[in-house]
Amino acid sequence: MTLAQQASTQQAGTQQSGTHHADLQGAVVAPTDSAATWWRQAAVYQIYPRSFADANGDGIGDLQGIISRVPYLTELGIDAVWLSPFYPSALADGGYDVADYRDVDPRIGTLEEFDAMVAALHGEGIKVVVDIVPNHSSNDHVWFQEALAAAPGSPARERYIFRDGKGPDGSEPPTDWQSIFGGPAWTRVADGQWYLHLFAPEQPDFNWANPEVRDDFLETLRFWSDRGVDGFRIDVAHALTKDLTDPLPSRAELDSIPRGGGEHPIWDRDDVHEIYAEWRKVFDSYDPPRTAVAEAWVERHRRPRYASAEGLGQAFEFDLLTQAFDAAAFKEVVVDSLALAAESGSSSTWVLSNHDVVRHATRYGLPPLPTGVGSTEQDMKQGAGWVLAGAPEDQLDRSRGERRARAASLFELALPGSAYLYQGEELGLHEVGDIPDEARQDPTFFRNPGVDKGRDGCRVPLPWTRSGSSYGFGDGDAHLPQPDWFADYSVEAESGVPGSTLEMYRTALRLRRELQTEERLEWVATGREDVLAFRRPGGWLTVTNFGAAPFPLPAGEVLVASGPVADGALPGESTAWVRQ
Ligand code: NOJ
Ligand code: CA
Repeated sequence: MTLAQQASTQQAGTQQSGTHHADLQGAVVAPTDSAATWWRQAAVYQIYPRSFADANGDGIGDLQGIISRVPYLTELGIDAVWLSPFYPSALADGGYDVADYRDVDPRIGTLEEFDAMVAALHGEGIKVVVDIVPNHSSNDHVWFQEALAAAPGSPARERYIFRDGKGPDGSEPPTDWQSIFGGPAWTRVADGQWYLHLFAPEQPDFNWANPEVRDDFLETLRFWSDRGVDGFRIDVAHALTKDLTDPLPSRAELDSIPRGGGEHPIWDRDDVHEIYAEWRKVFDSYDPPRTAVAEAWVERHRRPRYASAEGLGQAFEFDLLTQAFDAAAFKEVVVDSLALAAESGSSSTWVLSNHDVVRHATRYGLPPLPTGVGSTEQDMKQGAGWVLAGAPEDQLDRSRGERRARAASLFELALPGSAYLYQGEELGLHEVGDIPDEARQDPTFFRNPGVDKGRDGCRVPLPWTRSGSSYGFGDGDAHLPQPDWFADYSVEAESGVPGSTLEMYRTALRLRRELQTEERLEWVATGREDVLAFRRPGGWLTVTNFGAAPFPLPAGEVLVASGPVADGALPGESTAWVRQ
């Protein structure tokens, strides 16, 4: 008896689940272990280096800390790590303000330690992806310092975006544009000119019309590729090229220009792909070719170009992350994302948490987001901002959030494509909501007083042990304060404990390697609108119960489940993998 037949017999009278956009989706591609296509279905674990493990006890995570935790990463069963920036930085934006693209922050380590880390990870078959931040540098970058010291109109200023101000004495900014982090997007320098920064003032935007800038990034890509890095995550990949021909539009005019047409003055311009075509040549000059994934908050139909083989090769899909825990919403995202992947020839990318958003265990424990949360950066900020600022902790149902997060993670890990995991999600960690204001570091907090608590809550250093200084993160206090409840979420507390979130991830990641074949799935009717089921080739069936009533699982071996399966019934808000 098929699942559909069984479910409809047992759930007689219930509605058949909503429309099925497609029964069979996806592509047959080269096996995942092929040297050039390892990334297509990889489980990529994001390390936020300052908050992962601190080997020398100064409160800041470091490369030796990562090296010391390679056994943990191996046991977890991930295929690659992606390191958020570890470059020299004044940390105006957690390292996304890079002062030198070809070095390591001395607080984090040295280039020699970087090489040792790559060797240690490669020794375990784990690939290494590093973050490239090409839209802006730090204001400490030697080029920006040169630009400040140079005269208006000089070649040094041409590497960034300087303009004269408005008004009789040029004391008004060139436009009234706002930065993403809040506040004006222009800052004035001593001689009266203004420079553009889409993010913090400490992050001046590069002028990508300048060949020197282009050449310098090609060199950076080669520098890390030569050191054995396997791939790159490209920060704000959709903003590099800009049309800043005078007269510049006002903020209102800018906002009224469609973003999806390729000709917006700033966002997602068609000509940005000329850059990635050049980068692709560099990537492909290595054996195996280096990979890249775009962080591009663009309209859905624009994503395949970033993900194409002529471009970066893969692009983050944040659509799952912006949805409520809801069967129809999840299904729609999966159907659409697989269709987009088929269009680009790339694989899908699944993300539930990263260093910019509220951890999914917490998101799912809060009342639903306002409607209209979509996939643009503005939408995301609106959603995340609401969660952070508008939903008091007393509305948080922690155990429900965790239950749903485990179900969503197991759902995600069964999908065709790559899963991007964020450090700590394998522990079921919650957002830390009550960081004292004086301990906060994120510019989005400082630039939006009283509105946005910022992103520090998902960046609190990991708990490794139940007790001890900084819960095993290091020998001193962590750079962001850790709450008492971290003890129960530590690696020590969860290791070897059947049913813990950590053990669920370990089991799922191990099975995933074993079960994954072609990048496709087949939806299976369940007879319930709040239950989704899909089958991957080889009899790997995933069932997620988004509702409350238990769901009778079909015959087969339950390989792993996010909630207790009793008498063959999958409890509410749970996922099970079944081998049939
Ligand atoms: C996206 C990064 O993920 C985020 O952390 C950073 O603040 C902005 N880009 C600016 O670099
Ligand atoms: Ca340290």
